[in-house]
Parts: sequence; C-alpha cells; structure tokens
Amino acid sequence: MEKILVIGAAGQLGSELTKSLSDLYGGEQVIATDLNESARSKFDYCKFEVLDIMDKEAARKLVKSENVKQIYHLAAVLSATGEKNPLFAWDLNMDSLLFVLEIAKEFKLDKVYWPSSIAVFGPNTPKVNTPQYCVKEPNTVYGISKQAGERWCEYYFQKFNVDVRSLRYPGLIGYKSLPGGGTTDYAVDIYHKALAGEKFNCFLREDSYLPMMYMPDAIKATLDLMHAPTDTVKIRSSYNLSSMSFAPKEIYQSILKHIPDFQIEYKPDFRQAIADSWPDSIDDSHATKDWGWQPEYDLDKMTEDILKNLPNYKF
Ligand code: NAD
Ligand code: SER
Repeated sequence: MEKILVIGAAGQLGSELTKSLSDLYGGEQVIATDLNESARSKFDYCKFEVLDIMDKEAARKLVKSENVKQIYHLAAVLSATGEKNPLFAWDLNMDSLLFVLEIAKEFKLDKVYWPSSIAVFGPNTPKVNTPQYCVKEPNTVYGISKQAGERWCEYYFQKFNVDVRSLRYPGLIGYKSLPGGGTTDYAVDIYHKALAGEKFNCFLREDSYLPMMYMPDAIKATLDLMHAPTDTVKIRSSYNLSSMSFAPKEIYQSILKHIPDFQIEYKPDFRQAIADSWPDSIDDSHATKDWGWQPEYDLDKMTEDILKNLPNYKF
C-alpha cells in the first residue's frame, strides 16, 4: 500500500481531497499535514502532522520515516492574498514546489500531484473557450508562480522521469471550509451569507464571468487524473479543466430560487482587475480525450446541494 502525504491539507481543497484519499486508500495510509496544530481536529480519520513545507529538514525526515510514495502538494498563497505580499507568495509557491519535485526525484516517489489554476492565463489570452495552448502572460504573482510551476513540472517529468500530474482548476466552490483568499471565493462566501439571512457585498461586477467548479467535480477530476495509466497522461505541464462558467448575477439568481428575499450589492474592488485578466470559459477537450474527464454539476445542481447540506455542516 502506498503512503500518501498531503501538504496544505487543511485548506478548501485539502479538507475534501484528504477525506476522499482516506476513503480510497485507508486512513492509516494518508498523512495530512498543515501549518498549525489547530488543523488536527479536522483529521480524526487519518494521520495528522504539523508541517511547514518551508522547513525542508522536517519535510524530508517525514517523507523518509513514513516511506511516503505519493505527495499531493496543495499549500500555496492564492491570487488575492498573493497581491498583498508578492515576494512571500512567490517564495512559498515556487520554493515549495521545487523542493517537492526534488524530493520526488531523490526518493523516487511514485507520483506527485500539484494544482495549477486558470490564473496562468492573462489579459492577452483568448477569453472564451480558452484553449490548452495559447498566449498566457499572467499578471498576478499567483499566476506567474503557477505558470513557472507548470514549466518546472514538465521539466522534472522530461529530465528526471518524475511522474507529476496537474490540473488548471477553475474557481473551486465547496461548503466544507471557508474561503482561502482567492478571487473566485466570492462564490463560496455568497452561500454562507444567503443562509445567514445577510445581504451579500460582492467584490466583483455583476457581469464578471469566470470558470468555476463544484468541489466534488474537482475531487473526481483529481483522482481520475492520478489513477489514469501513465501513458494516457499526455500533458505534464497542467491540464485545462472545466465544468461551468457564470457571473455573480447568475449565482445570485440561482440562490434566489431557494431564498427569495436574499439581497446582493456589487462593490468591485482590486479583485475585479484580477478577474478581468482571467478567461470567461475554458476548453478542456484534452482532459476529456486523454483520460475521459466529464463533470457532473452545473450551477443549479451545485446551489441545491450546498443549500441543502451547508446548514447541517459542523466546522
Ligand atoms: P487554501 O488557502 O484554502 O489552503 C491552503 C492550505 O495550505 C492552508 O490550509 C494553509 O494553512 C496551508 N499552508 C500555507 N502555507 C503552508 C506551509 N508553508 N506549509 C504547509 N501548509 C501551508 O487553498 P485551497 O483553495 O485549498 O488551494 C489548494 C491548492 O489548489 C493551491 O495550490 C491553489 O493554488 C490551488 N487552486 C485552488 C483553487 C481554488 O479556487 N480554491 C483554484 C485553482 C487552484
Ligand atoms: N480560485 C483561485 C483564486 O481565485 C484561482 O486559482 O485565487
């Protein structure tokens, strides 16, 4: 059985992906790690260790002592937070990825997963149905770090045979954790405000279209990619991935069908420029062709699921 290390496990993606990995492989095979001891309570179904991935000695020791064979490296500073401290975001996002790739080479790990993002695209990218291969030129530090990270992933695959796999996630929407500093996180927060009976102040314009994805689809895509036979994974930078695309006015309309007195106000801030630099929608035909990707959720199905389950969810 493969020991799996999840780095940054307590975040939006990690909280759900770590559970799915434990369900699949068994909790004793999965080691969830994150910065703070306070995250331990989330992981009563698998092992948990406090780990700052920038503490390379501690990370190397853990990989060796636990005989880790797969790493899911999820720790990163996201787009909006990254703009507040660009050099810190660059250091964490790049340095940690390079370290994980080096570890994978040194310990001959079986597989590495590292998420990229629609943030690799920039203002000169075709906006609609954005292809896998096109002009990128990201203009956020987060996007620059993801684009450089993709090049490093492909490099380690080609030069050192590191089996690293990656997806360019759209904005991820889940209800099991709170927003983590991303531009797309308005679409997480809006459900919390709607259920609390509060008016929602949206930091994007009502017509600001972005590619989005419900968390169960993101988890399915991740596991589908990680379980795909090696020779079917043709792209070693990162795959475009898509399920839905909507603007704030449409998620608002979708919620109104269930909560008719919900109110919204639009107050665009610095995150609007970030959203404007990203695609409206994504062409993910390579993922469909290479390893059979098919999403399950559209906007209304996601809204229904979140509004049904969030009120009973214990944080
Ligand atoms: P998040 O901010 O919710 O979680 C990141 C986790 O990493 C946090 O629990 C944080 O404590 C941890 N972390 C931060 N610094 C660390 C360090 N030095 N050592 C160990 N852990 C550290 O982010 P998320 O939304 O879960 O995103 C996870 C990954 O997916 C990131 O690489 C992100 O770029 C990528 N991604 C996310 C989205 C999205 O919409 N959420 C979209 C595209 C890509
Ligand atoms: N959803 C992320 C963000 O907004 C993009 O990866 O930062």
